[in-house]
Amino acid sequence: MEEIQKYPAGWRVLHWIMAVMVLALIPIGVWMTARGEADLWDSLTDTLYSWHKLIGFTVLILMVVRIGMKVFIKSPPYPDHLPRSLQLAAKSLHHLVYVLLVLTPLFGWAGVTAFPALVTVGGYDLPAMPFVPVDRELAGTLFDIHGLLAMGLAILLVGHIGAAFRHMLRKDGIFKRMV
Ligand code: HEM
Repeated sequence: MEEIQKYPAGWRVLHWIMAVMVLALIPIGVWMTARGEADLWDSLTDTLYSWHKLIGFTVLILMVVRIGMKVFIKSPPYPDHLPRSLQLAAKSLHHLVYVLLVLTPLFGWAGVTAFPALVTVGGYDLPAMPFVPVDRELAGTLFDIHGLLAMGLAILLVGHIGAAFRHMLRKDGIFKRMV
């Protein structure tokens, strides 16, 4: 039986922490935006926005760590029984998820800088993104792009989670690499 190599422990911990954060960010983002569009500006909407911004910004910082890990630590090789085409598809999907996990929070941060609406949980402000002017119209465009990127990310994550479940049910060792 071929030995399956796992991802390093720190990598696995970061993966699951970020998975919980991103899976919370998407419904919170949709919910708060719907409340904002319905003009429901109460403390619940404020709280949702504050947490969304704080968690989203934390994801951006963690992505820097994650990309560092990807560059400096080699991912374990796929087992030989996994067809080359599937290995290539998995790698491409993962790279695309990485790109969206950087671009989505960057556009959210740029949007709240342009609005400006940097306040988060406990009244603490996020730093403003350098070189982004205060401009409501620009903020609207940045939020639209942020929303589109987030939807693209959500679609990719459905594929990613579906593939993970398939590996789990087939017990082919791929799922175990990340647990
Ligand atoms: C991976 C990280 C992130 C994900 C997955 C995410 C996801 C989302 C989603 C799904 C929406 C709703 C879009 C819609 O319904 O049109 C949204 C809206 C929003 N997000 Fe994020 N977000 C992330 C990071 C951030 C960050 C870092 C900030 C700011 C610091 C931020 C600020 C906002 C704001 C202000 C809105 C409302 C935009 C509007 O009112 O049109 N997000 N986000």
